[in-house]
Formats: sequence, C-alpha cells, structure tokens
Amino acid sequence: MKIAVITGASSGMGQEFARQLKKQERFDEMWVIARREDRLFTLKEELGIPMRILPMDLTQKESFAQYKELLKKEQPTISLLINASGFGRFGRYDAISIEDSLEMIDLNCKAVVAITELSLPYIEEGGRILQVDSLSAFQPVPYLNVYGSTKAFILSYSRALKAELKDRKIHVMAFCPGWVQTEFFNRAEAAEKKVITYFNKIFTAQEVVACALKDLKKKRSVCVPSWQNKLQVLGVKLLPTALVLKIWMKQQKFD
Ligand SMILES: NC(=O)c1ccc[n+]([C@@H]2O[C@H](COP(=O)([O-])OP(=O)(O)OC[C@H]3O[C@@H](n4cnc5c(N)ncnc54)[C@H](OP(=O)(O)O)[C@@H]3O)[C@@H](O)[C@H]2O)c1
Repeated sequence: MKIAVITGASSGMGQEFARQLKKQERFDEMWVIARREDRLFTLKEELGIPMRILPMDLTQKESFAQYKELLKKEQPTISLLINASGFGRFGRYDAISIEDSLEMIDLNCKAVVAITELSLPYIEEGGRILQVDSLSAFQPVPYLNVYGSTKAFILSYSRALKAELKDRKIHVMAFCPGWVQTEFFNRAEAAEKKVITYFNKIFTAQEVVACALKDLKKKRSVCVPSWQNKLQVLGVKLLPTALVLKIWMKQQKFD
C-alpha cells in the first residue's frame, strides 16, 4: 500500500497540500493527522479519495506510540510525508506563557522529529519528506522569538537529514513560506497587544503550496516561494544580523 502522510491537514497549508496532491499524484491512501477529526472527515468527503483519518494531538507522546503501532500493523510504503502541523504566538517574551512556548517546541520541533523518524523505516527509495518550515528560519525574529527558533531548528534538521538520506535516495525539502493567509493568525494574534504590525505581503495557501510541490519535483532542498521572500533571504544572508534586527524592529513600530 503506497501512501502519503500529511500532518496538520485539518486547515491551512496541510489541507491545501491534500487538495493539490489529489490532482497531481495517486496514492492507495492518504493518511491525514490533526486534532479536529470533523475537519478531516469533511476533507475526505470533499476529495473523495481513500483517506485514513487519524485524530491525534501531536504534543502528546501517546500519539507517537499510536502512529508507530499503526505503521507496524499496516506496513505501508510511504511515498510522501508532509509535516504541516504547527503554530506560532506573536508577543513580547513576557506576554507569551511558558506553557505556550514549550508547546510550540513540542509541536514544531519534537513532533516533526518523531513523525519523521517513525516514518523513515517505511519511506521507499525515491520517497520524499516535505517539512513545512518558515521564512523565520533564516533570522532571529523578535516577538516571534520562540516560534522563529523552532523553525530555524527545522531548517537545520531538514538539511542535515537530506544529506544523511542520500544513500537511501530519499529527498528532504524544507518549505519556507513568508506570511500566508490561514488560521495560523487566529492563534498567533491571541495576545491583547498587537506587536507584529507590518506584513510585507500575505500569500494564499494555494499559491505557496503550488510552489512547494513544484520545487519538490525539482528536488530543491529549500523552497522559498516568491521573489520578494527570496530577496529577503538573500538580504539576511548578506547583512550583519544586528542590522537585520534593527530593520525588523523599525518595521514593527513596537512601543
Ligand atoms: N500562516 C503563515 O503565515 C505561516 C508562514 C510560515 C510557516 N507557517 C507554518 O505552516 C504550518 C501550517 O500552518 P498554517 O499556516 O497552515 O496554519 P493552520 O491553518 O493553523 O494549520 C495548522 C495545522 O496544525 C494542526 N495542529 C495544531 N496543533 C496541533 C496539535 N497539537 N496536534 C496535531 N496537529 C495540530 C492544526 O490542526 P488541529 O487544530 O485540528 O489540530 C492545523 O491543521 C505551520 O507549521 C506553521 O508554522 C505558517
């Protein structure tokens, strides 16, 4: 049984990956993971393809044991793994609770590592891993401090893993979009005081996911959709970090 596994498929980019993949590839089953089971069932109905609904909270260790057991029982061949579950919180260091900060690390880092490593024994030669990362991976991001740091971890993890998996001919790509209009903002902006006030450009999930799937076919190791965001990455590489931080702080007009 050849499958695709998508975490975070109940909304935003994860859901959009499922939609666009249906048009591009055939799998015997798509396995979709998120907490909101109802949303996953709605997606299954909408797409009308064989889909296994896996309601899991990926901040809970039991979910990893459950996933491991399922893989052992079904012995699937994983052709594509997409880790899209994740969340961020905008706010000054003292406005974000320790619980929220640790949960970001649990979901954005630990869960990605756990799902990736549990999946690896089942990923076939020629298989692909797409980690939904972020533009914030490339620079320190005040007021998105912990979130940005989790994404820097994913960039480093993905690049190194790609090198390690060369022998097995498994491709790994870190997908690093800028701002994307999704439910991400509902949770990110929950703090009373708005600290992130400047958004250079907000993309649709359709636009960036189409770009990610194209770059995955080209076997890129990092996908940064749009020339605006590519320019930003280049600027961050060339400029001193202190200057990059100064520009960011000025843009946000935080008082
Ligand atoms: N939107 C942006 O501007 C942006 C930019 C760059 C990168 N990203 C990254 O893109 C990824 C997808 O985010 P999105 O923008 O598509 O936001 P989204 O619409 O909020 O989607 C987040 C997904 O993560 C799932 N999720 C959240 N907590 C979970 C948990 N504890 N266990 C399992 N699944 C969980 C959600 O499902 P349930 O709530 O049903 O569990 C949902 O399906 C994230 O990693 C995010 O950091 C977003």
